[in-house]
Amino acid sequence: MTQVVLTETHGKVGLIRINRPEAMNALNNDVVDGIGAAIDAFEADDNIGCIVVTGNEKAFAAGADIGFMKDFDHMHAYRSDFITRNWERIKTARKPVIAAVAGFALGGGCEMAMMCDMIFAADTAKFGQPEIRLGTLPGAGGTQRLPRAVGKAKAMDMCLTARFMDAAEAEKSGLVARVIPADQLLEETLKAAAVIAGFSLPVVMMVKESVNRAFESSLNEGLLFERRAFHASFGLEDQKEGMAAFVEKRKANFRNC
Ligand code: CAA
Repeated sequence: MTQVVLTETHGKVGLIRINRPEAMNALNNDVVDGIGAAIDAFEADDNIGCIVVTGNEKAFAAGADIGFMKDFDHMHAYRSDFITRNWERIKTARKPVIAAVAGFALGGGCEMAMMCDMIFAADTAKFGQPEIRLGTLPGAGGTQRLPRAVGKAKAMDMCLTARFMDAAEAEKSGLVARVIPADQLLEETLKAAAVIAGFSLPVVMMVKESVNRAFESSLNEGLLFERRAFHASFGLEDQKEGMAAFVEKRKANFRNC
């Protein structure tokens, strides 16, 4: 049987590939559970400092699998805790997760990319929340994360008209961190992930937590959270090493402690 989620390691970077090319990487339970298991494994692996999630050149993921869910009734969706039960493992990852998106990232695919800490897009990427065409609505965070990323006007436009946003517009609007020629997407994303994985892991995790706090708190609460994390960093050997290396004009050798 084809494995619908493949994993590889590239140095200190864990790579997760969604692998259902015959269905544009549509997300069913096997795929979502497979991504969750891969995240669990990379989170538990002390040699991994950053995680990349990608699809193929045609699709990151074209959404939740429509055939899989088309006959759900209200009670099944509710009782099985559809989405909440297994989709949000990326959101709870403590190590940084980068989505490398080429081709379609639609519906749940766009939502899964937005659950990651940042999106690197190939110049072929197309983002959209076209659920309205199916008689439903985004159910994995699209109506909440998209406005936070691109603002209300564009989020309303995408969710209400089902239009797609190309990579250039996605970068201009703040949805993606970088646009990269398609044939270099994975290489460039792995390079950036390796840079992150080369830093002190506890500091990387504190940076991620602090930036995410900006979306969950008032400015003063967020500033306090950041200040406490900043103070805590002075308890790390890696802070001593990082500053000593700068003063001694050498490369820091972080030990994640
Ligand atoms: N679910 C199941 N199968 C899908 C799929 C999906 N979301 N998206 C694509 N596929 C399948 C197609 O059915 C097709 O299969 P067959 O060859 O067996 O017919 C195969 O992938 C290739 O797709 P197309 O022939 O349609 O390829 P295309 O290049 O003409 O179009 C596309 C590509 C624009 C992505 C189009 O397939 C499409 O519109 N897909 C659906 C996108 C969508 O509506 N996503 C939202 C899903 S709902 C959701 O995600 C809810 C949520 O918030 C969690």
